[in-house]
Amino acid sequence: MTKIQSSPQKQILFNAFDMNCVGHINHGLWTHPRDQSYRFNELSYWTELAQTLEKGLFDGLFIADITGVYDVYQNGIDLTLKESIQLPSHDPSTLVSAMAAVTQHLGFGITVNLSYESPYQFARRFASLDHLTQGRLGWNIVTGYLDSAARLVGQQGLKDHDLRYEQAEEFLELCYKFWEGSWENDAVIQDKLNRIFTDPSKVHAIHHQGEFYNSHGVFQVSPSVQRTPVLYQAGASPKGLQFATRHAEAMFIGGDTAEKIASQTQKIRQLAHSHGRDGTAIKLFAGITVVTAETDQQAQEKLQEYIRYASPEAGIAHFSSSIGTDLGHLKDEDAILYKKTNSIVSVNERFKENKVTLADLKAQHVLGGRYPLFVGSGATVAQQLIEFIDISGLDGFNLARTVAPESHQDFIRYVIPELQQRGRYKTAYAEGSLRHKLFNAGDHLPHSHPAHHFRCPSSNQDTQQSNLISIHQHSA
Ligand SMILES: Cc1cc2nc3c(=O)[nH]c(=O)nc-3n(C[C@H](O)[C@H](O)[C@H](O)COP(=O)(O)O)c2cc1C
Repeated sequence: MTKIQSSPQKQILFNAFDMNCVGHINHGLWTHPRDQSYRFNELSYWTELAQTLEKGLFDGLFIADITGVYDVYQNGIDLTLKESIQLPSHDPSTLVSAMAAVTQHLGFGITVNLSYESPYQFARRFASLDHLTQGRLGWNIVTGYLDSAARLVGQQGLKDHDLRYEQAEEFLELCYKFWEGSWENDAVIQDKLNRIFTDPSKVHAIHHQGEFYNSHGVFQVSPSVQRTPVLYQAGASPKGLQFATRHAEAMFIGGDTAEKIASQTQKIRQLAHSHGRDGTAIKLFAGITVVTAETDQQAQEKLQEYIRYASPEAGIAHFSSSIGTDLGHLKDEDAILYKKTNSIVSVNERFKENKVTLADLKAQHVLGGRYPLFVGSGATVAQQLIEFIDISGLDGFNLARTVAPESHQDFIRYVIPELQQRGRYKTAYAEGSLRHKLFNAGDHLPHSHPAHHFRCPSSNQDTQQSNLISIHQHSA
């Protein structure tokens, strides 16, 4: 393999990739005798996980979320319910305070689908959490792709794919006004003697009259450590990529080989440049699955044991909803034909170019999930991951769970020390907020980020622009 990008000492970032439900990405493994994900509705399950991850110096716990249910496969939810394919699933933000209370450094990337949120209520909830975590909060911005979600919240149907991103653009603009533009940095003075908690001259009403949202008044939350939480996104369609490379500070890239991911990482860094941002202003992650043990042989045995419990069919049911096409009536040898849908454009596109049969897709879902699988001793996996990073130009991985919490414990026990020995993983946390840990450049978004245009002039010496200028005008 030719190395496309090489930075020998680049330390690899890791998020644990999870969801507030039984089965996340690797479906069927909830039936494994040692799996404890059925405890997902107990606080202790999450506080134990957070402590485990912090011992392993993980950068973050990234919690996916979905509004709606997977009802495309076989035109119903029977398999979804039987196999617990992200149903039941609970609100991820409810977990953050408890996990923050038992950790000091771990970041929390929380997914919220903005399509069904009020920007004001959402911004207030996340600013409150950024306060309580002392600046360890991230937001994974998603716009949704399930028709079932639209029906559940009482809408006619899913909005058109590209329109969802236009709405997202305005949602973010309004959030920036709340988070960055309403309160000056030194508005809160807590002066008991003079009976002044907040200096009224330093709190400003924001005014927003847009296509999707209106809001007038002051934000209710004083500035938190980061003001805007660290922004994650996974857009991969042309519209999604434009959106993500303007706003995101961390992006998730789907892909099964390092070479395919390499072309994406290059494209993303170029697009970031075209928006006036540094190519390194976005940390790039790919989802992976790892099965590891003391030796290569034992890891292979563990894989075979896990395979007995995994459900490729449940993986295909999940996949059906991702592409908005029912794959439930295909035979193994049938090729999956491309059909334009309103779901995840980028996942669906592959069927345009390649002849992929159902059997091919099932083979990719041997552990019930779709992410690249690494199997071996700690040394073997560490070596493979380093190679993957160096070829792909990624910054890190989102590590999916298999048997919970065993798979994360195994990773920390076997793989992390091997990465550390090779100088490719930190040996201690840096101090500071999640953003500062990731970029070593302070708690707030940099001036090259679009949020900069919405800051109070006095909180931001360099800007002459008022918080009323819209992103749409600015980008025109
Ligand atoms: C690693 C990763 C995690 C994702 N997590 C979620 C999620 O939790 N909830 C969700 O609705 N979509 C999630 N998505 C899907 C994205 O929001 C988005 O729809 C997808 O990446 C395709 O983007 P596109 O609409 O531009 O094609 C995720 C995608 C990736 C690659």
